Amino acid sequence: MSPFAGRRIVLAVSGGIAAYKAVEICRRLVDAGAHVTPVLTHAAQRFVGEVTFSALASERARVSLFDDEDPIPHVTLGRQADLILVCPATARVIGSYAAGLSDDLLGATLIATRAPVVVCPAMHTEMWEHPATQDNLRLLSERGVTVVEPEEGRLAGGDEGAGRLAAPESILTAAAEALAAGARASTRDMVGLRVLVTAGGTREPIDPVRFVGNRSSGKQGYAVAVEAAARGAKVTLVATVQRQVPESVELVLVETAEEMRTAVLDRLPAEVVVMAAAVADYRPVAPADEKIKKSGEDRTITLEPTPDILAELGRSGAAGTLVGFAAETSDVLANAEAKLHAKGADIIVVNDVSAPKVGFDHDTNEVTLLDAAGDRTAVPLTSKRDVAQAILDRAVTLRNLR
Ligand code: PMT
Repeated sequence: MSPFAGRRIVLAVSGGIAAYKAVEICRRLVDAGAHVTPVLTHAAQRFVGEVTFSALASERARVSLFDDEDPIPHVTLGRQADLILVCPATARVIGSYAAGLSDDLLGATLIATRAPVVVCPAMHTEMWEHPATQDNLRLLSERGVTVVEPEEGRLAGGDEGAGRLAAPESILTAAAEALAAGARASTRDMVGLRVLVTAGGTREPIDPVRFVGNRSSGKQGYAVAVEAAARGAKVTLVATVQRQVPESVELVLVETAEEMRTAVLDRLPAEVVVMAAAVADYRPVAPADEKIKKSGEDRTITLEPTPDILAELGRSGAAGTLVGFAAETSDVLANAEAKLHAKGADIIVVNDVSAPKVGFDHDTNEVTLLDAAGDRTAVPLTSKRDVAQAILDRAVTLRNLR
């Protein structure tokens, strides 16, 4: 069944050129079974008329706080909504929302709701990169708002750069996740648990400017951390990349495998540890102190093994339930099974990273969870947040069985 079927969504449209793309989002949500109420700012109507949204949505578009038959339209809309999707979100609307201003129907509805909110910024690069915009988004994110970051691409006036509204698929995926997270908000089954997560690829220096690294974006590890926090856990995230996390998550930034090991060991014990990071298996034995000069001749870099953090945790028993990942490209399940036993994990999450849309840097993943008792659970291609949910469901079940 569609994640939108029967859900009430306020589609809040603010005034930017990307407002025309919200028409497509509106149509797709309605097609997927959602009850969509468009709310347009005054400026949005300069780009797309309310009649267009009224014709496509589940009810007429709403444009005014005062000229409405409902004397309190913002409260009614805010209370009834399962989700508010602000698409596109201009710098002004983002700023007003962060400041708690409610000077029009859209702003007042945002302040009057307890439903999850997804904000999809779209604006010129200068406005997107302005510290005020970034600070406001950070604040909103800390308050639990989902921010769907814009892409690089063609902007109004023929300019190119960061700030183009995210693709419809990314917006709809984030909206579905926020709805699911909202529905689960009452399932706070991890309250009282300490959860330690690692994310991102380590960088092992060759010299001050070069490193041995990999393609991990940290998205999967961050999704686990955000999901655990939403379920009430006290979360520490040791990561090599910085992304947005709720305020309650302790974020520790590191670079190398050795730094990650120290940060992880320093923060134990924890009831659940999830090693989603792509830790380099090898590092240069002797990184140069200065940038290596080009000589035109072959150069050999000698590598040595890094500490295996997961295996060390498996031996120590300091992680209550220990979850590792396996990124494989051949003999996927057999290799993962071997890692499960060799590293002493309770669960191994195996992803075949040679498959399309799976693993490194994608917004989606497809995994199989293997556990020490021999159980296998396949999680078909889905968002990384859904994968995170499946991993934590399994970890909680294993804990409860002990
Ligand atoms: O970050 P994303 O772009 O979202 O991509 C997600 C991912 C593909 C990175 C993630 O899903 C994943 O598979 N992470 C593990 C990648 C990896 O390093 O796999 P591995 O098979 O080499 O390692 C097995 C396990 O041992 C992992 O849990 C790893 O964290 C751990 N390990 C590995 C080497 C090492 N020196 N120390 C470790 O702890």
